[in-house]
Amino acid sequence: MSEPGRSGAPLSWQLCALCGRELPLSSSQSQCPDCGGLLEVRHRPPSVSGAGTTLQETFASRRGGSGPLDASGVWRFRELVLPGAREVDVVTYPEGNTPLLSRDAVARWAGVETLLLKHEGLNPTGSFKDRGMTVGMTQARSIGARAVACASTGNTSASLAAYASLAGLPALVFVPAGQVALGKLAQTLAYGAKTLLVRGDFDACFALVREAAEKLNVYLLNSINPFRIEGQKTIVLEMFEQLRFEPPDWIALPAGNLGNTSAFGKALREARDLGLISKMPRLACIQARGANPFARGFREGFARPHRVKAETVATAIKIGDPASLDRAIAALRLTDGVVTDVTDDEILEAKAVVDASGAGCEPASAASVAGVRRLVSEGVIRPGERVVAVLTGHILKDPGLLFRYHQETEPPPSRANRPIEIDAKLSAVEEVLGTARP
Ligand code: F0G
Repeated sequence: MSEPGRSGAPLSWQLCALCGRELPLSSSQSQCPDCGGLLEVRHRPPSVSGAGTTLQETFASRRGGSGPLDASGVWRFRELVLPGAREVDVVTYPEGNTPLLSRDAVARWAGVETLLLKHEGLNPTGSFKDRGMTVGMTQARSIGARAVACASTGNTSASLAAYASLAGLPALVFVPAGQVALGKLAQTLAYGAKTLLVRGDFDACFALVREAAEKLNVYLLNSINPFRIEGQKTIVLEMFEQLRFEPPDWIALPAGNLGNTSAFGKALREARDLGLISKMPRLACIQARGANPFARGFREGFARPHRVKAETVATAIKIGDPASLDRAIAALRLTDGVVTDVTDDEILEAKAVVDASGAGCEPASAASVAGVRRLVSEGVIRPGERVVAVLTGHILKDPGLLFRYHQETEPPPSRANRPIEIDAKLSAVEEVLGTARP
């Protein structure tokens, strides 16, 4: 896949971040064969002079392009994603090109003057996972994988199912039985993945898929897959482009298995090294209080890894033993980042505010906004600082939770918008609106 550069050396390769072992780009290993560490994709720096400015111009010139690569908000950035990718191998919808929204009501609630929402729920399958999946599935096809698999809390499985269908590959997914939001499970089934409802939690699903992938020779597309990370980096690159490469002070994101935190760290490191940005934003990683191993570790300076039995309404991030912990710690150190946790009530209130602003998002996504409010109240984020919060999934991913929230009566949640059943008569409408004539 990687076309040799002019010197004959490959454009890209894989590297174990722990022991430094190098593997060819075409290796299908899901971790380092020597030490078990997670792999990372490395690219030769783009061979352009004045790299930062020239790259900015190249990316901008492709925006709105009609070719399959230029139309994608991932492959537009291909020099930093997979420079040697051949167009025939690329599996794309297209994806990305998501908006950066400004909603005053959300900023006011969070307590900051400038809060922008990078809405990744507006990807083709409704979550940021599509950005990683287009690259992971492209790699699967180019190395001749016979099938693809993942464990998931729902969004990865929906994305994997859709992209596998696009690539013409069989897909196998492992999800925790009874713990996946309705929209995500429905998508996974409808796109045609073989769907295994595992009696256990996400962490059990993940252990099982790792074993199955190795023994059954299927290609693993969880976020430990380094090609997924390359795609997810483009959330940050595209955000910078939308901000004319003037980075915000903070980027807030929900944190579960920590693949996205890792991707953001890698994007930021590379953007700085290439001269795309001259200031490093700080990462604010937000977990649910009942699924907070990363936040616990942060409070103790990561003296030891934590593992918890996860419990939260935000099922997307209901993860007790995150797989990409080391990479995420590196991202925090690079950016002088912080980790905090928020309660389910805070998540639900943030979600109601985001939803009522018209932006809308799924529960896990609202954790990022709830986290901004908490960090402002703790004096970590100052009200005058510029913040981007990433909304990772679409409002329709979890309709079950929405109906429970808005119809709950004992007691009704503070921002519930209860539906009102009426007879089919104008007088009934007038009565509800309080305009009935005497
Ligand atoms: N937000 C949403 C909507 C997610 O679906 C996920 C993860 C995250 C945030 C956290 O990202 O795991 O990279 O730290 N969902 C995975 C899945 C686990 O299977 O769909 P992370």
